[in-house]
Amino acid sequence: SEYVDPRPRPPVVAIMGHVDHGKTTLLDTLRQSSIVDQEFGGITQHIGAFSVTVGKDKLTFLDTPGHAAFISMRSRGAHSTDIVVLVVAADDGVMEQTVESINLAKEANVPIIVAVNKIDKPQADVERAKRMLTQYSVQVEDHGGDVQVVPISALKGTNVDTLMEAILVQAELMELKSDYSGPVEGVVIESSTDTHRGKLCTVLVQCGTLKKGAILVAGSSTCRVRAMFNDKGAPVQEATPSTPVEVLGWRELPSAGDVIIQVSSEKEASQITYHRMQKEEEKKAKEDFTVI
Ligand code: GTP
Ligand code: NA
Ligand code: MG
Repeated sequence: SEYVDPRPRPPVVAIMGHVDHGKTTLLDTLRQSSIVDQEFGGITQHIGAFSVTVGKDKLTFLDTPGHAAFISMRSRGAHSTDIVVLVVAADDGVMEQTVESINLAKEANVPIIVAVNKIDKPQADVERAKRMLTQYSVQVEDHGGDVQVVPISALKGTNVDTLMEAILVQAELMELKSDYSGPVEGVVIESSTDTHRGKLCTVLVQCGTLKKGAILVAGSSTCRVRAMFNDKGAPVQEATPSTPVEVLGWRELPSAGDVIIQVSSEKEASQITYHRMQKEEEKKAKEDFTVI
């Protein structure tokens, strides 16, 4: 598609790595660095993604269980991640799910930045971790490659700012751009039902600018956007590319990984969902038939 209003957009970053290597701790530390400039009552919402501001730059982190989200989005054809931060514990080095993460990132053609974590531990061995990575074809810097490696302690916050700089360097190389005008495209990051607020869904806007009143389709769900809230829980009027936003007004609850498109009328929205549901039923009927 042709750009109408292309402008730079923040990178969308996923944190991946082996069990207990420190993904959640890193996300917590990153989120805390964004609480300082948060504008709304000191409440951090969990909406499945959050943005951090570094100087005049912004980064968006996906805050969903890495593997599952990545795989489910890929299987639906949604491409949500620009950069993978691969967390490798400096005491353990490369483990089974480190290798899985490397393979997922490579298959999706998403560049990797390595965060060698837990450098505060006495058993930490950053050089060993680097050598192990090269054995799994991650061409790290200082070993003839250009994959950035940042030794960090997610727990103590050591070098986390350097990691953010490294992500911004990578993002700049990629010249990430999106159209800020035209129909919205995005992806569902999370969805849930709230007793008071109804059906909620976190949308990562990828193209266009999402505004109140927009009509959206995701899977077989439709929505007229009634209200939007940012990752700090503050009401917002619009959401631009790479921005995660909580959207209220869904008739049915979409699923994480669903692709979102904006349409021009509710009639068009229901035509699309009717079509999709029919296809689903045909598929089911065929499957039932095969089983018999
Ligand atoms: P899963 O979600 O279960 O895969 O784990 P995770 O990758 O999210 O790891 P998590 O952040 O839960 O950290 C696992 C353990 O390692 C916790 O006890 C953390 O406190 C500890 N940990 C994480 N980062 C560091 C670090 O930089 N230094 C030290 N010493 N411990 C850390
Ligand atoms: Na853990
Ligand atoms: Mg975790």
